[in-house]
Amino acid sequence: MTRLPSLILLIITSGPLQAADPPAVEARQGMVVAAEPLAAEVGVAILKGGGNAVDAAVAVGFALAVTYPVAGNIGGGGFLVASLSAQGKRHSVALDFREMAPAAAHRDLYVQAARNGRKDASTLGHLAAGVPGSVAGLLRAHQKWGRLDRDRVLAPAIRLAEEGFPMPERIHAFFSHPHRAKQLQRYAGTRHVFYPGGKVIPTGALFRQPELAETLRRIRDQGADGFYRGEVAEAIVREMERGGGVITLDDLASYQTVEREPVTFQFRGLTVISMPPPSSGGVCLQQMLTMLDRYPLEKLGHNSSISLHLLSEAMRRSFADRNLYLGDPDHHSLPLERMLSKAHLEKLAATIDAKRATPSEALLAEFRAPGREGEQTTHYSVVDAEGNAVAVTTTLNGGYGSKVVVPGAGFLLNNEMDDFATEPGKPNLYGLVQGEANAVGPRKRPLSSMTPTVVLDVKGQPCYVLGTPGGPTIISNVLQVFLNLVVYQLPPQAAVNTAKIHHQCIPDRLYYEKKLSADVLEGLRSRGHRLQRRGWIGDFQLIAVDRVRGVLLGVSDPRGEGRAVGY
Ligand code: DON
Repeated sequence: MTRLPSLILLIITSGPLQAADPPAVEARQGMVVAAEPLAAEVGVAILKGGGNAVDAAVAVGFALAVTYPVAGNIGGGGFLVASLSAQGKRHSVALDFREMAPAAAHRDLYVQAARNGRKDASTLGHLAAGVPGSVAGLLRAHQKWGRLDRDRVLAPAIRLAEEGFPMPERIHAFFSHPHRAKQLQRYAGTRHVFYPGGKVIPTGALFRQPELAETLRRIRDQGADGFYRGEVAEAIVREMERGGGVITLDDLASYQTVEREPVTFQFRGLTVISMPPPSSGGVCLQQMLTMLDRYPLEKLGHNSSISLHLLSEAMRRSFADRNLYLGDPDHHSLPLERMLSKAHLEKLAATIDAKRATPSEALLAEFRAPGREGEQTTHYSVVDAEGNAVAVTTTLNGGYGSKVVVPGAGFLLNNEMDDFATEPGKPNLYGLVQGEANAVGPRKRPLSSMTPTVVLDVKGQPCYVLGTPGGPTIISNVLQVFLNLVVYQLPPQAAVNTAKIHHQCIPDRLYYEKKLSADVLEGLRSRGHRLQRRGWIGDFQLIAVDRVRGVLLGVSDPRGEGRAVGY
């Protein structure tokens, strides 16, 4: 099939260029794309006020903790990947501010809790929380690569928490949901913030968070000590003791962010910079792209059944490796060299049959799993006028994390402990069944799928900043948007909007978004895939740099309610 007909076919079948799709936002100086509009506006105001992309990213991170409590956080963790330009030289960075398990955590923590009747201990309540990393991470990024004073990057978040903002419909709906409300209202701190006077705040009414404002002021005035020591740390530990959690003052005072060597590799002349372990994102992205590079994907057609089959087979193989071998690099020696070697990837790719799906059991005999969904994390992308490009993915893990707000301090704690393999053979929130390297352990970081990624063009200048939430679908989604841009040459908005698929080896299902046409699905089914429809995959926040026209193009995924704001 020649290129032209296949492109026409994709327009008809998967509809990425429908008139209803909002176009990318264009700007010349700077761009911020985030899952929540107020936070995106905060970032652009920082850029306009003389801040660089790191200042803006830090301000957006703190603002999201106020305006987007489902995933924005100071009680969670995340990763920052950036390509920064200083004195004419470019360097890339990967900052790990993932949560760490408390010292008292051990491999059977959740097995024992389940025996004691707490089957949901890794997802709900105090024991689900890892030691938060976001405050340390944002402050370290700011201190090292930012330019403005700390009070400037915290001021917008403090103002939004103090003065409030209109309650968004989405938050109102979540807190009104009877099952959710029951979970949330178990915790006094959560009731106090989200159900003042016993009621959900109506959509559009002012949502003020004065205690969160006070915590943010302490961070502004004392830096990381304002969170990890003193009154906020004491409030966290008091709540742990009250609710059966195990985080101590020492755990908080010992929290460390880590600057890591990014995963960096070449694909068709471009340089891809992504997050290394404890995220699996960069490693899997490199594995999948290397396996796929041997196929003439553009000839096979965007979102054609053969292309999607090959993508899902590459995903299946990479997830098999991920789940078996990856974990915290500070606690395990990970076989990265082998996993990323040409020989290994050639061997894996050679087992792909273009006509037939490989049953996952053939790759991973011992694992079984159903899979549940929970889709809340958040990504934001920033590019400034100096050519700095920053990608941040941050999370509480599940929506609103552990559902525990720290009383008096006004913020939610994560439920990131569920990203560990909490029980051998047991699927986590995302249906992932993982191995020994990701067992629970004291001071360990749980394995992540978050994939903040920056891509450099052939001249070594940033051309794409990519990222999304979605648990394990994050990796597949970043892969597909990258291929859509680089291989299929779709415009940025179409690259994000078009239908996505996901395969994570176990469960042996090919997940797809409903926009895929019936004949494409039939083509996949006839190759032996077990298909399962998903409502939507991800909430992508993309920046593309068009150097020919000298513009930045920002796309906030129409699946979410975010915004691209530029100037
Ligand atoms: O780190 C991870 O891989 C997960 N905790 C991310 C969770 C997530 O993306 C939820 N989703 N939307």
